[in-house]
Amino acid sequence: MKKKSGFTGQLGFVFAAAGSAVGVGNLWRFPYLAAKNGGGIFLIVYLVLIFTAGFALLTTDIAIGRRTGKSAIHAYEAMNVKWKFLGVLTFLVPVLIMTYYAVIGGWILKYLVLFLTEGGEAAAEDGCFTGFITSPGSVWYGLVFMLLTAVIVFVGVEKGIERVSKTMMPLLLVLVVGIAGYSLTLRSGTENVRTGMQGLKIYLTPDWSGMTVSRFLQITLDAMSQLFFSLSVSMGIMITYGSYVKPEVDLGKSVSMIELMDTGVALLAGVMIIPAVYVFSGVEGMSAGPGLMFISLPKVFSRMGFAGRVIGLLFFLLAAFAALTSCISVLESIVANCMELFHTQRKQTTAVLSVIYLIATAVIALGYGAFYVEARLPNGSTGQLLDIMDYISNSFMMPFIALLSSILIGWIMKPAWIGEEMERGGKIFRRKRLYTVMIRYVMPVIMLIIFLQSTGILNYL
Ligand code: PHE
Repeated sequence: MKKKSGFTGQLGFVFAAAGSAVGVGNLWRFPYLAAKNGGGIFLIVYLVLIFTAGFALLTTDIAIGRRTGKSAIHAYEAMNVKWKFLGVLTFLVPVLIMTYYAVIGGWILKYLVLFLTEGGEAAAEDGCFTGFITSPGSVWYGLVFMLLTAVIVFVGVEKGIERVSKTMMPLLLVLVVGIAGYSLTLRSGTENVRTGMQGLKIYLTPDWSGMTVSRFLQITLDAMSQLFFSLSVSMGIMITYGSYVKPEVDLGKSVSMIELMDTGVALLAGVMIIPAVYVFSGVEGMSAGPGLMFISLPKVFSRMGFAGRVIGLLFFLLAAFAALTSCISVLESIVANCMELFHTQRKQTTAVLSVIYLIATAVIALGYGAFYVEARLPNGSTGQLLDIMDYISNSFMMPFIALLSSILIGWIMKPAWIGEEMERGGKIFRRKRLYTVMIRYVMPVIMLIIFLQSTGILNYL
């Protein structure tokens, strides 16, 4: 058999996997969810979940990948022929995500360019974001981002993905820490002085006012679906990356490092954003919701004066790194599956898929202009093309896949099948008991609840 390409060692793997995990979800979705869900309460719930449920899901994907040496479709087939359908379903998640991820990458690129050329004033103007995404010109940014992703995947796992991740991830970490530190030193110049430290307190302190059981459940569900998205699990990406890991690498340690980096960046993104928004827009500004990153933040940067130009530029630079390493992982898992399915070479596979996805990116980007639709989604929200793709892949398919794969691993393959892979070469699988309990009993229940909730079925029960 021809030798499969792969990561050179543990570090390359950890940075690439963390690169996939750390994305817009950490920078934008996590802080906004924390602000919405009683600050510290959300943080505690999230931390508990990440080291139990998140750990179980991430371990499962990576170990499946390394043990079978295959990407999703063939990996599930190798485990149990009857479960090949689950591999196909898993493969479809990145296939859908890829249609819109470069569109979001394009938005970030646009803001980066705005800060570079105009110093961020234009970005802070009312209607800037809406004006941009509804204009046909936005398509170009998405296409450039898609092309950039394609080039890196085209070059390969070691020379493309590993090299880019090893450069961008450390830079990203430094930037997040630096901006978070700066954010804490901020203070507003008016009579009711608001400081960054007060903002931090609001972020970290659990707000129990008006807490009810159902609200707590809602927070838990929000945390759980965030964690899912954030760790890039149950979509075959970590299976593909796992299949590139050498046998001598300690998977348990790698999983812990990926969890830590992903959670660390999410927590720090909150430290970066929440105090800054609090200082310049008060408590009201924090309820901005999903518009936080592209609408409220540029306004905050513009109020910082000159420093804001620099910080804004650095912020969108780090966001671009985060989005690019995630986007790469999505394309890579599609390419890897296709190479196995059609027995094709990397370069031709990537080339064909790139053409398809350049078209898809353009179509989805036009979903706010020429192809505007207002679809009612089962969870009650209305959305455009991008939201529809996001809903099907993240809210509908991922919980369903996680539910089925917990059943497959917990009850048919048995947790020891994963355990053996974790212990390969005499390594220690530290959270083995926890893993077994999680995958057999806890995950199926949680995933079923999430699935019922996000499909709206729970509301009818
Ligand atoms: N994990 C990424 C984030 O937190 C998102 C992502 C989803 C990346 C799906 C790849 C695939 O933003």
